[in-house]
Amino acid sequence: MSTLIGNVGSLVTNDPSHGSGPLGLLTDAAVLVEDGRVAWVGPAGQAPAADEHVDAQGRALLPGFVDSHAHLVFAGDRTAEFNARMSGRSYTAGGIRTTVAATRAATDAELEANLTRFVNEALRQGTTTIECKSGYGLTVEDEARALRIASKHTTETTYLGAHVVAPEFTDDPAAYVALVTGEMLDACAPHARWVDVFCEQGAFDGDQAREILTAGAARGLIPRVHANQLHHGPGVQLAVELGAASADHCTHLTDADVDALASGGTVATLLPGAEFSTRAPYPDARRLLDAGATVALSTDCNPGSSFTSSMAFCIAVAVREMGMTPDQAVWAATAGGARALRRTDVGLISPGARADLLLLDAPSHVHLAYRPGVPLTAAVWQGGVRAL
Ligand code: NIG
Ligand code: FE
Repeated sequence: MSTLIGNVGSLVTNDPSHGSGPLGLLTDAAVLVEDGRVAWVGPAGQAPAADEHVDAQGRALLPGFVDSHAHLVFAGDRTAEFNARMSGRSYTAGGIRTTVAATRAATDAELEANLTRFVNEALRQGTTTIECKSGYGLTVEDEARALRIASKHTTETTYLGAHVVAPEFTDDPAAYVALVTGEMLDACAPHARWVDVFCEQGAFDGDQAREILTAGAARGLIPRVHANQLHHGPGVQLAVELGAASADHCTHLTDADVDALASGGTVATLLPGAEFSTRAPYPDARRLLDAGATVALSTDCNPGSSFTSSMAFCIAVAVREMGMTPDQAVWAATAGGARALRRTDVGLISPGARADLLLLDAPSHVHLAYRPGVPLTAAVWQGGVRAL
């Protein structure tokens, strides 16, 4: 069964061999989908025959968003904390414990229903790949069940037992690090692809982060790091040194951090929803791009610091507040996310790629920034299947 999506006014392929610029932009284009994959991309006039035809009506088609950073296994919310922040209180890592208590008290079914709700919410907004971290359980059993539940919905699962020191270990953080690198890692590794640490004041310092990431890597998990979010710290340098796939947040950077990201293989993942919701200064995307770093954009969807699942919102903020052009922001939210997850099958529309596609109710991808807050999803395909 093949489907030809024709009359595409503007096509973002993210493959420069198909069209202009890094977005590989084509106008008046068509895409052939077969067996869940992209089979052909090119000018509408040269499109091959297909079993089924979809008329894109001159609208824009782009790869589904790749949200490479989210925390979706949790219960409860933190409305009161957000409300207090918007009245002047500042954000600290300590709020995580509120969600830990609610998450531990929830049943598996409740956690899975909540996760499903957010995955579907993201899908309706064009996100076809989403990463999901543990980190609101902080016991061997609760971290393992978070990853068991997450892995039913995504292959991009991240062990974040080192989100904060569990409340039971406040007086003995070293014992908690021993648990995270020992019994908890044993229970979680079978359900995770990645290992992450919140390297931050009030969470884990550089030495602890190194120990945790190294232990995870020894079990086959690939490191990614919550780095330099609230203060300057060693997270970014550590991420690059350990060959992490991504350093996430990157809000407080020295020139040496920017250089390390630009010359290493670690993607700088920016999460503007967090700065928006904590009323903090945004990371400087332009500085990273000018230096030559690879930048990804993600939601950081979580109940504490960034309760949005909207990649379009992140694109709009990145363009308006962080010095990105609309083309750069759209690339970062698709191809950039794929790089951060070391995926070559998503984040692009090219023969062989998964047919994860987002049709916009707009003539151009630029509308994602130009029309902030407006729902622009016209259709979504996931693995070639029409999801909506
Ligand atoms: O990415 N920084 C650490 N973790 C989340 C916040 C989690 C929370 O506040 O519940 C983040 O911002
Ligand atoms: Fe996060």
